[in-house]
Amino acid sequence: MNTSSVTAIAHPNIAFIKYWGNRDNILRLPMNGSISMNLDGLCTRTTVSFQPSLPFDELIINGREVTGAGLDRVSYILDIIRGMANIHDRAEVITENNFPSGAGIASSASAFAALAVAGSKAAGLNLSEPELSRLARRGSGSASRSIPGGFVEWQVGTTDEDSFAFSIAPADHWKLVDCVAIVSASHKKTGSTEGHSIAPTSPLQAARVADAPRRLEICRKAILEKDFDAFASIVELDSDMMHSVMMTSTPALHYWKPASLDVMNSVRMWRTNESIPACYTVDAGANVHVITLESEAHIVEKRLREIKSVEDVLVAHAGGPATIVKNSD
Ligand code: DP6
Repeated sequence: MNTSSVTAIAHPNIAFIKYWGNRDNILRLPMNGSISMNLDGLCTRTTVSFQPSLPFDELIINGREVTGAGLDRVSYILDIIRGMANIHDRAEVITENNFPSGAGIASSASAFAALAVAGSKAAGLNLSEPELSRLARRGSGSASRSIPGGFVEWQVGTTDEDSFAFSIAPADHWKLVDCVAIVSASHKKTGSTEGHSIAPTSPLQAARVADAPRRLEICRKAILEKDFDAFASIVELDSDMMHSVMMTSTPALHYWKPASLDVMNSVRMWRTNESIPACYTVDAGANVHVITLESEAHIVEKRLREIKSVEDVLVAHAGGPATIVKNSD
């Protein structure tokens, strides 16, 4: 097989119906399906080359060499790729994010999606979209959703083979915008991987998981029909349900800060009192993703900036799939 140097880009995504808790923590088989939108403008750019002269895999993120747990997680994916391609060379992985790592936008989704695309191609493999999504999933569950473009559903599946994501609508289907209200640039104390593993300790997780097919159906339909009211209610409910599970896990995880609640309450007021199409969703951190329509994005961004506890606002539109941008062969 021919190996080469391949560069790929991938976008992070924001989940409307959240992934929280695994049936299998090693394979990252989720307890429930999830739906997200890729975030255009924000991206990870990764170059992978397998080199016979390298004694170990090398990882450089934003110009700095990374070792330890970060490198191990990348080598785990490279090992899967080497197994599939039947090669033994170690790889150099050079990766850059165009968004600040302290901005509370998870980089693991775009990072593992870009790694799966660049790494598999550099190893001489030609994987299908579902195969790439499954490979990215092994590195970070949400990365499975950064492989296809636009609005994406990760079907729960029953095994490694059928737990992958696919596009339910292209990026230009619905002009949604994510205005990310940054209320804290500090790193979260408990990462998602640890959070997933304790999700079953919450007595609320079983109910959240059992109700997931209903929420997925409502969200999918709202996206396909561009029904913002239905979309807003289900997105806020799903985020609140996930945080209820987090707060009632052992140990308890409280990601919201007072400023997060300020934003969530304001958004709800704008929608109910002034019919501004905006709703909130919060991941495993304090920052609040405010989803709105492109036509209202300016007013929403302006209002968010007026809230005292909001430090900054990032604006992202629906983004495309993970793609190869350079292949040295
Ligand atoms: C709250 O995909 O970051 O953002 O598989 O351990 O890398 P790992 O977890 P990750 O979990 C994402 C959790 C979430 C919800 C979501 O994106 O669906």
